[in-house]
Amino acid sequence: MIISMENFAKKYCIITYGCQMNLHESEKLAGILQTLGYFNTDDETDADIVVFNTCCIRENAEKKAEGNIGALKKLKRDKKDMIIAVGGCMTQQKGYAEKLMKKFPFIDIVFGTHNLENFAELILERTESKKHIVKVDDKEGKIVEGTPKARSSFPNGWVNITYGCDNFCTYCIVPYVRGRERSRDPEEIIKECENLISLGYKEITLLGQNVNSYGRDLGNIDFATLLRRVSALKGDFRLCFMTNHPKDLTEDLVKAIAESDKTARTVHLPVQAGSDRILKLMNRHYTREEYLEKIALLRKYMPDVSITTDIMVGFPTETEEDFNDTMSLVKEVRFGGAFTFVYSPRSGTPAAKMAGQVPEDVSKERIIKLIDLQNGINREQSRAYIGKTISVLCEGYDDRKKKYLGRDTYGRMAYFAGKGLIGKFVNVNIKKAGGISLMGELLSVEEEKDF
Ligand code: 5AD
Ligand code: SF4
Repeated sequence: MIISMENFAKKYCIITYGCQMNLHESEKLAGILQTLGYFNTDDETDADIVVFNTCCIRENAEKKAEGNIGALKKLKRDKKDMIIAVGGCMTQQKGYAEKLMKKFPFIDIVFGTHNLENFAELILERTESKKHIVKVDDKEGKIVEGTPKARSSFPNGWVNITYGCDNFCTYCIVPYVRGRERSRDPEEIIKECENLISLGYKEITLLGQNVNSYGRDLGNIDFATLLRRVSALKGDFRLCFMTNHPKDLTEDLVKAIAESDKTARTVHLPVQAGSDRILKLMNRHYTREEYLEKIALLRKYMPDVSITTDIMVGFPTETEEDFNDTMSLVKEVRFGGAFTFVYSPRSGTPAAKMAGQVPEDVSKERIIKLIDLQNGINREQSRAYIGKTISVLCEGYDDRKKKYLGRDTYGRMAYFAGKGLIGKFVNVNIKKAGGISLMGELLSVEEEKDF
């Protein structure tokens, strides 16, 4: 009989909301928990500690997390020793931790975005004292290096390059909950990338709220230089980065992306809106024309580049004419993909206090039209793939579809049958196109390139 340690050891379950940044932070939380001897489980009823890594960028993310926390009340009553911890952006909002403890008094630990690195101490403190713990520092400290990471995204490795944001777009809560922009030491970034490559990771994604302003606080390096340095590392890998801000995307950076044989031919460039009046109210620091100039610059150096974006509808005072400006911009640019959002007022941001909040039904109508338009563009772009053979990095297996999946350099997802392909670059001949994804036949596994 084989007895697994996992049957006796303590287990953790992490529930993550929001963006890549949060998913990567959950890898750090998992690393800390594994260092303390916990094993992973996806079943919260089986866990000794459940961690909610929350997001507050829109109200629905917050509501979902609160609903899921509330649902654990009964479980906690039956399993008194189970620890429930809540961290991430939601807890960092002014006065929120207290509100949360009042609403859900069974929570054991509340920790803010600036306290992730102290998580181990907070668990030990809770275990020893049995007191409820609230640790939410309102100011960011120095960047802490060396936090263990239990990565769960192979063959993609996420690497933080900046933390926080200084842009203060008027709708956005991020600068308030993530603090001022801090750039990570380039040598630490290079070390982490080298380590990932040596472990066989095939895609590196440099992460920050605005990677384009990397190094502004360091003074002796910028993002283009960092990108060139990472791209020059020996190894067969694809290099990605997100997210960008149009105001900071320079010609030198575009050249650095274009020159590199490792950077993916996809750039995520959030536009948010197509109307100059709304862009100004959003404090985005560019006009529609200036945004289109950045698109032209990217296409000048990389004619085939796929540009993806974030777009919002229903920002305060948005008229039908403003919305039509967004629609016409989408038609003009023909994005390779778009994340579309209905504006959600966030307490403490300037936009939440603006007159002229747009009624929900109007926003809903607009977002349906916008999604429809972008879906049509996605479909046309996908159809153009039929018959072509593309190079795909196989990143996972879809249990439902019983197919492997991966993306090409333009970020387009393809499904295909095969065996033992995760972490390999493969050639896939495209037979069918769905809305945003493709269906193909595996032709060959690529030889490892010698860079
Ligand atoms: N309401 C709706 N969408 C928002 N975003 C940021 N803040 C809000 C908000 N208050 C969107 C932006 C951003 C993306 C990550 O989330 O489009 O680029
Ligand atoms: Fe928010 Fe604007 Fe910063 Fe992006 S750039 S995180 S939208 S404030």
